[in-house]
Amino acid sequence: MPSIQDVKLITPEPRYLAGYLDLCRELWDKGVRLHSLHDPDRFEEWKDTLFRRYEDGRQGRGLAKGMVPFSVFWLVEVGEVIGTVNLRHSLTESLRRIGGHIGYCIRPSHWGKGYGTLQLRLALEEAAKLGLEQVMLTCDESNGASARVMEKCGARWMSTLPVIEGGVTRRIRRCRIDTPAAANCYLRTAHLYDFNNREVMTEDVAFYLDLAEQKGGSVLELACGTGRILLELAKQGHPVTGVDLSPAMLGRLREKQERLPDDIARRTALVQAGMASFELESRFDLIVIPFRSFQALLTEEEAVACLERVRRHLAPGGWFSVNVLPPHGPMGVDWCYPELVQWRREDPETGLRIVKKARGDTVDAERRIFRNTYIYEVTTADGSFERLEEPLAMRYYTREQIRELLERCGFSIEEEYGWYDKSPVSPGRDLIYICR
Ligand SMILES: C[S@@+](CC[C@H](N)C(=O)[O-])C[C@H]1O[C@@H](n2cnc3c(N)ncnc32)[C@H](O)[C@@H]1O
Repeated sequence: MPSIQDVKLITPEPRYLAGYLDLCRELWDKGVRLHSLHDPDRFEEWKDTLFRRYEDGRQGRGLAKGMVPFSVFWLVEVGEVIGTVNLRHSLTESLRRIGGHIGYCIRPSHWGKGYGTLQLRLALEEAAKLGLEQVMLTCDESNGASARVMEKCGARWMSTLPVIEGGVTRRIRRCRIDTPAAANCYLRTAHLYDFNNREVMTEDVAFYLDLAEQKGGSVLELACGTGRILLELAKQGHPVTGVDLSPAMLGRLREKQERLPDDIARRTALVQAGMASFELESRFDLIVIPFRSFQALLTEEEAVACLERVRRHLAPGGWFSVNVLPPHGPMGVDWCYPELVQWRREDPETGLRIVKKARGDTVDAERRIFRNTYIYEVTTADGSFERLEEPLAMRYYTREQIRELLERCGFSIEEEYGWYDKSPVSPGRDLIYICR
């Protein structure tokens, strides 16, 4: 199995052009012909315009009739191009029949080794960065390998349609796959996040400020959201980098960053990336994942990948702090509940009158995932009303499970607390770890 540590999905770069040509040659020799794949024998004709065309596609410039903006990525492993992805930013009627949002291929010498699944997972993250919660994919009914890759990434099959191309009828299967933004990315309600969490969680800010003071130096916050903690760290004088997948949350944070005094703004760097796949040039003295955000990673594979990324981004002697909310008893259907009002308030800053509700939707005890929905009913000062639903999903860890995972991933647990006042662990409360 390829490891996410060695494989990257990158925006095409000239230094990998020869690798891309190799990939085209291998696929071409195998008889694979795709719209987005170049003819290796005509390399001289396309090599000089390739990167400009990709950039135009991404920006939606000069597109031929019927085309939508698209982003191309290459899967790269130690200098070799293993695969390509074409991510269309939206669908047309024709793409709905055949093509879908994502087209991809892997070079034949790497077929059957898990690269397709890894590449599609990373492509789903790229789709999430565009704010897509769900994508549609298609594959030829005869292509069992492609269907299996889609299934491993969560495909829900829809219909199979006959499509006639060049006088040949092919049967095309169509599926939907949720991207990582389908839950936990606050795509609809990022503008209400701070208002809600000003009250829900406050005590952790002082804890992280104190931790950064003690451990000193540069800080990386994973899943930094709207900067509730990150901005306080920057104000305290720390150079801070924030990573988050959500375009909506990062958008709020960028607005705040623009209003900061120059010296503080210069200390904050923001990167849109998944916390299980980010790759930065810098190394950090302290990496934190506050406010239970680690639980947004819904599989063991992603959790391990995230911890491996953390390890690689720590400076020598660096520290890592993560926090989870353990399950309050065995996970079962009794965790589900009907829509309940949590609070009603008026936001003095915006004049919005907000009713916050929540609903417990499903429990998957085997995968330890609880899905719920936040509901905001918002009335503006002029009386207009909207109801916004925000899906959330969290993977739960008992104390034993999170400790075992941290230790298995090479961390030594130096401190363990039950709350941000550093009180000991006790049932029903959060778990907070400081590791190295
Ligand atoms: C509960 S908020 C926490 C935000 C901030 N750390 C705070 O304490 O207020 C969770 C954050 O995780 C982000 N997120 C969810 N899944 C993610 C992923 N796979 N990679 C990176 N960020 C993710 C969301 O966009 C959201 O901003």
